[in-house]
Amino acid sequence: MSESRKPAKPTIQLENDRVIVTEWRFAPGAETTWHQHDYDYVDVPQTTGKLHIQTETEKFDAELVSGVSYARTKGVKHNVVNQNDHEFVFVEIELKLISNKHFTQGRWTQLSIKVRFLTKLIKYLVKKLH
Ligand code: NI
Repeated sequence: MSESRKPAKPTIQLENDRVIVTEWRFAPGAETTWHQHDYDYVDVPQTTGKLHIQTETEKFDAELVSGVSYARTKGVKHNVVNQNDHEFVFVEIELKLISNKHFTQGRWTQLSIKVRFLTKLIKYLVKKLH
């Protein structure tokens, strides 16, 4: 059980239209608590050591090396626990935009794509419900 663990400390370093960059600082024994990501993301460990990862289907230790990044996809519920006897830090970069195409488009184009998508989705759902 996780009731007695301290929470890891997130500090948002940067947020813009494209990314959210968060520093996660874990005291020994601290955990992120259970969460899931709305965006795909890349973690850049700032410490070498072991983190214990829990998902709804598995538990395992990840051996992480300072400066060696890894990528994960959104939507998997998980908890991360620092089982080292020292502080553990990583920087997390969440990627807000979906495809390269969107990087070259302006705000209004992006917005009109979203509106078109939502309109289609609503029409589809209304049809399905009738
Ligand atoms: Ni996470």
